[in-house]
Amino acid sequence: MELPDFPLLLAPMEDVSDPPFRAVCKENGADLMYTEFISTEGLIRDAIKSRQKLDIFDYERPVGIQIFGGDEEAMALSAKIVDATQPDLLDINFGCPVKKVVCKGAGAAVLKDIDLMVRLTKACVDNTSLPVTVKTRLGWDDNSKNIEEVAERLQDVGISALSIHGRTRAQLYKGDADWTLIAKVKNNPRIKIPIFGNGDIDSPQKAKEYKERYGVDGIMIGRAAIGYPWIFREIKHYLATGETLAAPSINERVNACRKHLEGSIKWKGEKLGILEMRRHYANYLRGLSHVKEYRSRLPETEEEDYILSLRKALTGEALSYEIAPSDYNRMGEVEAVVVGDKGQSPDFLYIGCSDSRVTAEDLMGVGPGEVFIHRNIANMVVSIDMNVMSVINYAVRHLKVKHIIVCGHYSCGGVKAAMQPQDMGILNPWLRNIRDVYRTHKDELNAIESEEARYDSRETAVTHDLLALLFSYAPNYAERGLKIQLLCGSGEANMRPFGKCRIAASIPG
Ligand SMILES: Cc1cc2nc3c(=O)[nH]c(=O)nc-3n(C[C@H](O)[C@H](O)[C@H](O)COP(=O)(O)O)c2cc1C
Repeated sequence: MELPDFPLLLAPMEDVSDPPFRAVCKENGADLMYTEFISTEGLIRDAIKSRQKLDIFDYERPVGIQIFGGDEEAMALSAKIVDATQPDLLDINFGCPVKKVVCKGAGAAVLKDIDLMVRLTKACVDNTSLPVTVKTRLGWDDNSKNIEEVAERLQDVGISALSIHGRTRAQLYKGDADWTLIAKVKNNPRIKIPIFGNGDIDSPQKAKEYKERYGVDGIMIGRAAIGYPWIFREIKHYLATGETLAAPSINERVNACRKHLEGSIKWKGEKLGILEMRRHYANYLRGLSHVKEYRSRLPETEEEDYILSLRKALTGEALSYEIAPSDYNRMGEVEAVVVGDKGQSPDFLYIGCSDSRVTAEDLMGVGPGEVFIHRNIANMVVSIDMNVMSVINYAVRHLKVKHIIVCGHYSCGGVKAAMQPQDMGILNPWLRNIRDVYRTHKDELNAIESEEARYDSRETAVTHDLLALLFSYAPNYAERGLKIQLLCGSGEANMRPFGKCRIAASIPG
């Protein structure tokens, strides 16, 4: 396998580094890439999901397939399966910190038992003619950073390279990656295999600094490449010339996003390809100034036309129009780990029902940091409810939200219960508020013949919420130019997507 003197590796990332994503990274300079990790249990059971992750293409080479597991036999069998797929290398994951993996004695859990790690690795080495590499962390926790011993033992059992993420399992993704131990492994005279450093590389300057300071043989990049595959070419250029390459133009961003979408549709089929791509859109826009403004200018469109609309919006071709929450349905979710802990400044306060079918994030297609949320039984804004009033006060005064959405929905069990003469125990005083709405609108509601429709008269209920909002002691909305909108679902029980909601009432500030 041929690699440059100082290779840049695309890190394996579950649900991210699939073939369409790898294609855009390859095009932008990734020297070695990996599949997302694949469960050895899944592989030997022939699970479709695991099998599908084995898909690699010639244009990606060199490419490695990563597996994880805690059982020697499953490792051995999986190594044979991977061997038959003929990637350029087989990589073993001994670093994944997530509970579902660690609980099964795989991923980072294996760091607690180096003998087991050696046996699992040997099971792979003995059952494939491919080079076997390992990706792991510094150790299980602060008191057990055993990476130096791990490196020696794994080299002895026959691995060809080691990638080290400079955190312990206990750290998950918190704190800064510590590369000093990675450098220690690299500088150990016993170590002959290439050592690749990983963790927090997000700029050409940092890549150069870490290359020189820690002396690693290459750098592996994960999160910084999500939505920004140009990181590879930028680092290469900077390492070669000491100069910063111009950032990609808006057109380049849109083209890469389009290519990613097309690849996604081709590989996963139209429905899933489009759906799963949603998580990437926001990343491709990340960092652009006025990104919220761009997003709000996206015209109404079928999702297939999304990229076209995106291009128009970004290049100013689209007409500016007032923000519509349905736009947000088209934007991707941002992985919590990617967002990190950077404080919040959401534009929206959402007040809705606790009903498990109507989650605000799903309805609006938004991710972490975009909406401040309050939910309660039957979606009520009651002026003596200190909880909702505190939420409103905090959202308006401190977070400075621009819109408050009071979202009602059909088939609300709370509304139904309130309108029937039954004893609901502790819920009685709470549901009393709905009963009061009923009392006020008795004639109007009784005139509705169908019982179902009567319970579904959520416009009435949310209008009351709106009035409660307006008459509450919450900060002065008009002064803030705040807009209050009432949204009602179109009739589907789970109200997806939000685009099907309509504005029932709107009171400008
Ligand atoms: C969404 C996500 C999924 C990941 N999945 C994997 C995986 O499948 N296998 C693996 O070895 N590491 C996985 N990782 C860890 C990364 O490969 C990498 O070690 C980590 O993100 C640190 O590098 P970075 O700071 O450059 O992102 C994942 C990380 C993220 C953010």
